[in-house]
Amino acid sequence: MYKGIENITICDHPLIKHKLTIVRQTSTGTNEFRTVIEEIAMMIGYEALKDLPLEDVEIETPIEKAMCPMLSGKKPAIVPILRAGLGMLSGMLRLMPAAKVGHIGMYRDEETLEPHEYYCKLPTEIDQRAIYLVDPMLATGGSAIAAIDAIKQRGGKNITFLCIVAAPEGLEKIHEAHPDVRVFAGNLDRQLNEVGYICPGLGDCGDRIFGTK
Ligand code: PRP
Ligand code: URA
Repeated sequence: MYKGIENITICDHPLIKHKLTIVRQTSTGTNEFRTVIEEIAMMIGYEALKDLPLEDVEIETPIEKAMCPMLSGKKPAIVPILRAGLGMLSGMLRLMPAAKVGHIGMYRDEETLEPHEYYCKLPTEIDQRAIYLVDPMLATGGSAIAAIDAIKQRGGKNITFLCIVAAPEGLEKIHEAHPDVRVFAGNLDRQLNEVGYICPGLGDCGDRIFGTK
């Protein structure tokens, strides 16, 4: 929880902290960076998916017939914010291989830090699905808020946002704009710097995942 807000969970797990230290380091190369981001996404996803609905189905074990729980309801949607959100998609899909996948293209202007949407394609019947929006970095919160706006405009209601590192500034803004959205962050970092990067952070996550800088 963050400042007593029920809808915000800081995962605060030793394995996540350890793996975050690996990705924070400048010396970590693209291959390892991508792998560890996927692993952290799985751990945050495990926590965020704990409320998935279940229904009992009848099965036969080697011993007897039994009523046992399986996931129920419409398949959830995982929605990465392009580009860096793609780094979390594989980890989320390993947890829920049958999930549908949407994409929202968003980049932030390097000068103004304002988000710009350039693509949006969501699974059908999005209003009936649990939606897991993923982006490793919650900095000013602008991109996440704009992505949630885009999902809500298309009918999405049940939205959870997952990030690997959050700045306090972004957490507060997202909760103010969308108090109904549940937020799971792998870690709460200290602050934003004067050019909108998270400190200590891990740098430009998209560039590090795709090796573009
Ligand atoms: C990064 C990151 C978030 C955004 C966070 O994306 O992946 O989407 O910045 O910043 P904010 O909270 O201040 O909006 P970027 O715009 O660098 O695009 P990329 O993923 O294509 O690299
Ligand atoms: N986007 C990133 O990739 N890193 C930051 O620190 C802030 C926004």
